[in-house]
Amino acid sequence: MIATASAERVLLSLPEIFFRQPKPASYNTLTTKTPARKLTPDKLRQQLRQQRRILPPGQQKQAAHTLTWRLAREPFFRRTRHLAAYLATDGEIDPGELLGIARRQGRRIYLPHLKSRTHMVFKIWGGNSHLVKNHFDIPEPAGPAHPARPVRQLDLILIPLVAFDRHGHRLGRGGGFYDRALAGLRQRKRLRRPWLVGLAHGLQEVDTLRTRFWDVPLDAVVTPTRVLYFHSRLRRR
Ligand SMILES: Nc1ncnc2c1ncn2[C@@H]1O[C@H](COP(=O)(O)OP(=O)(O)OP(=O)(O)O)[C@@H](O)[C@H]1O
Ligand SMILES: [Mg+2]
Repeated sequence: MIATASAERVLLSLPEIFFRQPKPASYNTLTTKTPARKLTPDKLRQQLRQQRRILPPGQQKQAAHTLTWRLAREPFFRRTRHLAAYLATDGEIDPGELLGIARRQGRRIYLPHLKSRTHMVFKIWGGNSHLVKNHFDIPEPAGPAHPARPVRQLDLILIPLVAFDRHGHRLGRGGGFYDRALAGLRQRKRLRRPWLVGLAHGLQEVDTLRTRFWDVPLDAVVTPTRVLYFHSRLRRR
């Protein structure tokens, strides 16, 4: 049982109007999805990263706020005790506000930590604790004071992405870090933990992604305007 469950109940019972939900159209300006099959993965990465980087700061902030509102009501989030996420860079949609809520609700937060040039783990993050920049210049928890938690002992991993499609396929930045870290989950059938949920701006949706055998599919994608479920158990109330 989470210590601050009563605070969570208060938050989740607030009428939606308190979250100042903007008009969905304001940040999903693309009416047609990018035809991914016509582009190489690198070209697609380049194009979509550029598009999300030039989103105006106000629009980014509003998108992140609406995403927070949407995610915080999801049963899979409310059931989560051990939550891994990321610090937004490069125009990624920012889960920071959600992490603040999760922390106040007593949930444990983990962030990616690069163990080597190829391998990533998730280390606990206390919020105010010191972060160290990795070789991609992204701040991360480091050192023995921030132990890593095995992926299978996390409840929910919020995953950044460059592109996604309606089948739950994901294109990352091309390092293979998430695919390697989550490789053990690729064949899972009945194993529940952890849920793998991609976070994205609407413009990151493409028609169909080409995937390779090492790509780990997502259980859901959340954007400011929609939640797409690729696993029926995620809908469970
Ligand atoms: N489980 C794995 N074991 C070894 N190599 C892997 C594994 N998964 C991916 N890779 C390697 O990582 C490289 C990049 O993979 P991919 O293009 O799918 O990256 P991505 O999904 O965009 O990145 P990321 O996983 O960091 O978000 C590929 O060349 C692939 O060989
Ligand atoms: Mg991949």
